[in-house]
Formats: sequence, C-alpha cells, structure tokens
Amino acid sequence: MPNLDRITPQRLPDLLRRMPKAELHIHIEGSLEPELIFALAARNGVQIPYASVEELRRAYAFTNLQSFLDIYYAGASVLMKEQDFFDMAWAYLQKAAADNVVRAEIFFDPQTHTARGVSMATVINGLHRACEQAQRELGVSAALILCFLRHLSEEEAFATLEQAMPFLGQFIGVGLDSSEVGHPPEKFARVFARCRELGLHLVAHAGEEGPPAYVWTALDLLKVERIDHGVQSARDPALMRRLAQDRIPLTVCPLSNLKLRVFPRLADHNIGKLLDAGLVATINSDDPAYFGGYMNDNFVQTFAATGLTAPQAYQLAKNSFEASFIDAAVKRKYVDLLDATVAAF
Ligand code: ADE
Ligand code: ZN
Repeated sequence: MPNLDRITPQRLPDLLRRMPKAELHIHIEGSLEPELIFALAARNGVQIPYASVEELRRAYAFTNLQSFLDIYYAGASVLMKEQDFFDMAWAYLQKAAADNVVRAEIFFDPQTHTARGVSMATVINGLHRACEQAQRELGVSAALILCFLRHLSEEEAFATLEQAMPFLGQFIGVGLDSSEVGHPPEKFARVFARCRELGLHLVAHAGEEGPPAYVWTALDLLKVERIDHGVQSARDPALMRRLAQDRIPLTVCPLSNLKLRVFPRLADHNIGKLLDAGLVATINSDDPAYFGGYMNDNFVQTFAATGLTAPQAYQLAKNSFEASFIDAAVKRKYVDLLDATVAAF
C-alpha cells in the first residue's frame, strides 16, 4: 500500500475524485436524468404525468424502495428505440469517465422494456454499442449485467433469459433487483442455476431493506458471487464472518441508502463498520439521477459525513477492482494505476 499518512483531511476529497475506481452497482435506467426523460418523451411522443423537469425533480422525495421504484419505472417508459438506450448509456459513461471510473459493470432491467413491446435486441444493442464506444473513446471498460425483476415470477425470468439467449456474448452476468421484501432470492433458484450453467456471473440485491436471511439464501441457494447492497448483514455476526471469510464483495450505495431511508442520516451509514470487519465493501451510485449523485458525489459526501480516512479510500478503490469481473491480469493493471495515482498525489 502506498504511504497515505501524508494525505491531510483537507486533501481527501481531491484524492477521492482522482482515484481510479470500478463502479459495480449502477442501474442504467437510474442514470436517466430528468432533462433526458423530457427530451426522449418529446422525441418518441410518449406522455409523462409531469409538466416540467422541475416538477419531475420535485417528485423525487422517496420514503422507501417502493416509492422510488414507482417513479423509476415511469421514467423508463420514454425509452423506445435503440438510439434511446445508447444515448442513456453514453451520458452515464461520460459522467463515469469524468469521475475516474475506469471499469463499469452496468445493470439493465429488460423486463421494464419488453413489457412495453420494446424488443430485447433494441435494449441490448443500444446499451452494448455505448459500452464499445466507451472503451474506444473514453478508455472506460464497460460490461452489462441483465437483472431479473423479483416482483415478477420465475417463469417470466425464464422467458426473459430465453429472449436474451441470442445476445449471450453481449452481457457478462445476471442480477436480481426491484421490490425486495416478500420476494426472497430462493424464488429464483432454478433460473439462477440455469444462468450458472451458461457460464454467466451471478449477483443479487439482498439486505437492502430485506433481512440477513435473504443474503444467506442469495449466497447458498443462488450461489451469487457478489451481494448488491447487503448493508443489513451487519445485524448478523455469523453472516459477517461468512462474507469476510469467503471475500464476498458488497456493492454498497450510500446516497441511495440515505434517499430511501435505509439509514436516517449519512453519518449513521455502516460502511465503516463493514470495512472494519474486513469485508470487501465498495462504494457505488445505484441510481445516480434519482439519488443526488454519481460516483464521486457518493465518495465525497460519505467520507465527509462518516469520517472515513485516506487508507479506507485506498481500500475501497482496491476492493472495487478485486470485486469486479475482469481477469486477474487486468485487475493487477488497475491496482498498479491506483498505486501510481496515490503515490503521485
Ligand atoms: N432497481 C433500481 N434501483 C434499485 C434498488 N436500489 N433496489 C432494488 N431494485 C432497484
Ligand atoms: Zn440497485
């Protein structure tokens, strides 16, 4: 580890911004800014129940996960054409590059679109084209993770997987998102087993609002490699030991947790506790257009509120590469870049 003692608290925000990092928990539909929602609504002739960008932004006062999801799915209803999916992903990738994100593993929710008659090809081709352009023009490595909506049935997840089969080369894994409580991971055990046979990476949202039991079943029944959120794991010491021993990463999203009232104040967030317990915790933005910030906003605001330190900043960036689904040689290259950036800081 480079020498971090010389970095004063005043310089910490600058270090956080400059560090190369991986973003592993970003829903691309959650990067749709109100301005782009209105532009796409006009382009596609889609009606939205808000009179202006300001009125839509004022609706972003959430009380829990479901109150957010209702607005998030309404926002996504303006996406119709391949170019819309490209434009959304390209806008995110430019912001990611500006935040020194060098690797992004991007969730998308195909069922939100196929249910409206938009084809799987339209969704994946638009998103994938933006990922390819990001590598060429921004030097950002980007990959897609297809998420099943857990409030729908496992049968519908299987149908979605079937529709995605022609595009297996264009996404690297599957995840599980949407309304958590009442929809435990085990509901999707068979479809995850099939995805595992197909060689896809596996992740799942668990322990965002739901209990530690959902994290256990995501690990033991779905056999996921990472847990998205997972902050409720801190309520179960045996689970904390399991996550630490097996080096199961948690993709934590502090501003999301604040806006959805998982923690009453950012200062109450348990990211420091997760790091102290030796977990491979990472910081991510979740739905940045809705929760008030992209990667660097999440880092800077969380550090200011919780008092995390320079060594913890380094650990979080290093964890993000360890937790990513890139091969070992590329991981080493990114950690070397991190070390060089910190050494030169
Ligand atoms: N879909 C988009 N953001 C989500 C979140 N934070 N939890 C569950 N599903 C989501
Ligand atoms: Zn999420």
